[in-house]
Amino acid sequence: MKPVLAVERLEKRYGVKTVVDQVSFTAAAGECLGIIGPNGAGKTTLFNLLDGCVAPNAGRVMLDDVDITHLPQYRRARRGIGRAFQIPRPFAGLTVFENVLAGVVHGADRSTAPQRRAIEILEAVGLAHKRDLLAGGLPLLDRKRLELAKAMSVGTRLLLLDEVAGGLTEHEVHQLVDIVNALKRDHAVIWIEHIAHALMAAADRIMVLHFGAKLVEGPPADVMASAIVQEVYLGISVDVAADR
Ligand SMILES: Nc1ncnc2c1ncn2[C@@H]1O[C@H](COP(=O)(O)OP(=O)(O)OP(=O)(O)O)[C@@H](O)[C@H]1O
Ligand SMILES: [Mg+2]
Repeated sequence: MKPVLAVERLEKRYGVKTVVDQVSFTAAAGECLGIIGPNGAGKTTLFNLLDGCVAPNAGRVMLDDVDITHLPQYRRARRGIGRAFQIPRPFAGLTVFENVLAGVVHGADRSTAPQRRAIEILEAVGLAHKRDLLAGGLPLLDRKRLELAKAMSVGTRLLLLDEVAGGLTEHEVHQLVDIVNALKRDHAVIWIEHIAHALMAAADRIMVLHFGAKLVEGPPADVMASAIVQEVYLGISVDVAADR
C-alpha cells in the first residue's frame, strides 16, 4: 500500500547535539508503526518535526507525496496530521462534544456535516454517551479517549500518539489498545510508547530510536527479541555491531 507518510533522512540539531539523526521511515493507512527508545532518544522531537512545531535542519517530510517539510503546523493539521499527547489538554470549560467540534470545523474534511462528524469520532473512541459533560470533569481514561478524539478531529489521516497509555491501569491500557486497533483501520497510526506489551498488541512494525538514530525496524516480536534492543533496554552485553 502507498504510504501516507514518507520521512527521508530527517535531522534535528540543538547546538552541537544531534537529537534526530538521519531518520527515514514510512507509515501507511491501516497500520500502526510503534516507536520505542530510551528517555531522550529523540522520539518526541521526531513528532515535533512531523507536526511542524519544530523545523528540521535537514531531510524531508512527505505527506501523500506532497513535500510538507516547510509547512506551518496549522496547514499540516488541515492536511490530516493529528497528534495526541501523554497529558491530555482538553478545553476544560467546553463539553466533550464542543472539544471535538472545534477540531472538526478547523479541519479540511467537509464530506460530513461537522456535528455529525464530531459524533462519529466520539463513537469511535467510546465517548458519545458523555458528549454533553464538561471535559474538565472527566476521569483519566475518558480524558485519554477525548485526547484521541481531538487528534482525529481535523480530518486526520496520520495519527501521532505520544505515550498515550501513560498513567492508566492495566485494564485501562487494554481498553486503549482496543481503541487504537480500531482507529488504525482508517488511519496511519504512529505510536510512541514505553509500555511494551501495549505496543506489541497494536503495532504492525516497531522502530527503535537510540541517540536520535534509527537502530532497528521490523516486526514487533523480532525487534523486541533482537540482541540490540536487549542491549539498549536491559543492558545485556552483546556484540552490537554484529547484530546491526
Ligand atoms: N528545545 C530543545 N533544546 C535543546 N535540547 C532539546 C530540546 N528539545 C529536546 N531536546 C533534547 O533532545 C533530546 C531528545 O528529547 P526528546 O524529548 O525528543 O526525547 P524522547 O525520546 O521523547 O524522551 P522521553 O522518552 O523521555 O519522552 C533530549 O536530550 C532533550 O534534552
Ligand atoms: Mg518523549
